Amino acid sequence: MDATAMIATGKSTVALFLALTSLGLTTYKWPTHVPVQDKAAYDYIVVGAGTAGSVVANRLSEDPNVNVLLIEAGGDPHWEAQHPILFPYLTKSEMDWNYISEDDGYSAQYHRNKYLDLPSGKALGGSSTLHHFYYVRGDPYDYKLWAEAANDDSWNWWNLLPYFKKSERLEDQYIIDSETASFHGMDGPVAITRETRSQSLKYLEAFGEVGHKIMDDSTTNDTMGFARPLWYISKEGIRQSSAECFLAPAKGRSNLQVMKSTTVTKVLIDGDKAIGVECSTPDGLINIYANKETILSAGAFNTPKILMLSGVGPKEHLESVGIPVVYDSPVGQNLQDHVAVVVAHKLEQTNDAVAPQPPSDFPVPTFIGSGAFNKGQDYSDWVTLNLICRNNPAALLLLSSVVFGLHDDVCNQLAAAGTGSEVLFTVFNKARPSSTGTVELRSADPHDSPKIFTGHLSNSIDLEDNAKWLQDFIKVTQSSYFKRVGGETIYVDLPNCQGLDHDTTEYWKCYVLNMMDTTFHYSSSCRMGSVLDSRLRVLGIKNLRVGDASAMPNQVTGNINTAVMVLAEKLADMIKEDN
Ligand SMILES: Cc1cc2nc3c(=O)[nH]c(=O)nc-3n(C[C@H](O)[C@H](O)[C@H](O)COP(=O)(O)OP(=O)(O)OC[C@H]3O[C@@H](n4cnc5c(N)ncnc54)[C@H](O)[C@@H]3O)c2cc1C
Ligand SMILES: *[C@@H]1O[C@H](CO)[C@@H](O)[C@H](O)[C@H]1NC(C)=O
Repeated sequence: MDATAMIATGKSTVALFLALTSLGLTTYKWPTHVPVQDKAAYDYIVVGAGTAGSVVANRLSEDPNVNVLLIEAGGDPHWEAQHPILFPYLTKSEMDWNYISEDDGYSAQYHRNKYLDLPSGKALGGSSTLHHFYYVRGDPYDYKLWAEAANDDSWNWWNLLPYFKKSERLEDQYIIDSETASFHGMDGPVAITRETRSQSLKYLEAFGEVGHKIMDDSTTNDTMGFARPLWYISKEGIRQSSAECFLAPAKGRSNLQVMKSTTVTKVLIDGDKAIGVECSTPDGLINIYANKETILSAGAFNTPKILMLSGVGPKEHLESVGIPVVYDSPVGQNLQDHVAVVVAHKLEQTNDAVAPQPPSDFPVPTFIGSGAFNKGQDYSDWVTLNLICRNNPAALLLLSSVVFGLHDDVCNQLAAAGTGSEVLFTVFNKARPSSTGTVELRSADPHDSPKIFTGHLSNSIDLEDNAKWLQDFIKVTQSSYFKRVGGETIYVDLPNCQGLDHDTTEYWKCYVLNMMDTTFHYSSSCRMGSVLDSRLRVLGIKNLRVGDASAMPNQVTGNINTAVMVLAEKLADMIKEDN
């Protein structure tokens, strides 16, 4: 099989699952759709049932004296979404907004297309219905920057720790019995387990030998080092999306109603006060009112879109698309994302057959690792996800071509290297990128997709840092394990980088630019500190808050779902306090 065939297989698998959906195998789990009438009123309206919106709706409706309407553009999660082994087949589906980046003429030029697919969940659970299960929290240093941006110390890591624990129900006995148990929640709604496959151990040892710390638990205040990750997977092997953990259990609450397949087109604003939302239902446009507050949790692309459609955004931009300005605000600016740089190593030769994995498992063994360039520093500069593909060219093709949209030639070279060998496939991220992008309106039509300029690598510091830090990362080739098996970096043949010496930062800058993609961690497009105050209230408009990845002041080290969930837990408490 080659990259082209793998992409075709991916598409037909997605189509097969779509057909399966009509059987409604998991429909019983999810809240039913309530067809709300025009001019209905609720205490709270939450827009978007994703990672954050599901948490907010659940926590607010714990109080039987208030009623909550949760509005979601998508439908129920499909059957396949709950089984970890099937994660590569969830995007480019009905459960995905299928957004793409604008061609910026710089990044993504050596790609299958000169743009990136930017998958983003459109279903109950939002992107947590599509995500790749890694449960990480980020480093205290990341949240120190949050607290500084918000000018509010309640956002620092230690003050958020009770909220991290509140969501969590740790099911890994090893950590439960260990010293770090006090960092974990034991009775929250989200079941968390741990990767325990042994194939990672020789790599952990190798990274340890070249100076990195090896940890059992990567989610304490001490996050720098290498470890087997925690998972958003229950011990029964079921995806712990926010729909599974916060909506399914609240199904019986009469004060929480869920409206599916309904797209919010704008916030209704009366003077300087939000009074509800306009939404597009299969039966036409209706208005629904919020007596207390409206909370936007539509994600880092759609929350800024809704705000701008409502007249809250950069004045000049709104005028250029013909939207009357209600409040001039840097909405959609400062979009951030982790750039993924794919780097692979070829290890021992093997003709072992690929070990089949149960549906409850992530498809291949994996570990995570982070480090700093300056060895004295006590927080990470970079972070990696590492996947072990043992004589498994199919997994390498799936990862490089379906999960990441790398150029077909690159995918085919990786698959060739992985035929008869073990290959370590690494996704390398700069933890806190300096580059920022923008989310803009394509037009005043709410059904148009937003214009997304990722800004990936647009600040030259990011290219420099990635290049230098990758050279630091690949020093693992000097470990005894790598030396013993002849382990080497795979220098894929990149037409744009020919003639550059592999030992130079110039080569690695070229490599980074040609081997990049998104890590799907879009954030900060309505950041706290510029669009929002520290209680996540939209500046300039009363009774309106934002709670989702767009509110994050800056990226955190590693995958961001947990950061979004903790932000939502805190938001729900703040709303309760303020009302
Ligand atoms: C493919 C992929 C893999 C990932 N892997 C990981 C991982 O392994 N670990 C990790 O920690 N993070 C991962 N992430 C990131 C993480 O899942 C997201 O950052 C997080 O889910 C974002 O949460 P959110 O609440 O901001 O938005 P979302 O969860 O995307 O929720 C937004 C919701 O709002 C709805 N919506 C949007 N517009 C409207 C509208 N106008 N009207 C009504 N509803 C609307 C959407 O349909 C969606 O349900 C991954 C993300 C993706 C896409
Ligand atoms: C983590 O917290 C403990 C307890 O406060 C402290 O002793 C330790 O130095 C901290 N570790 C890091 C890396 O900050």
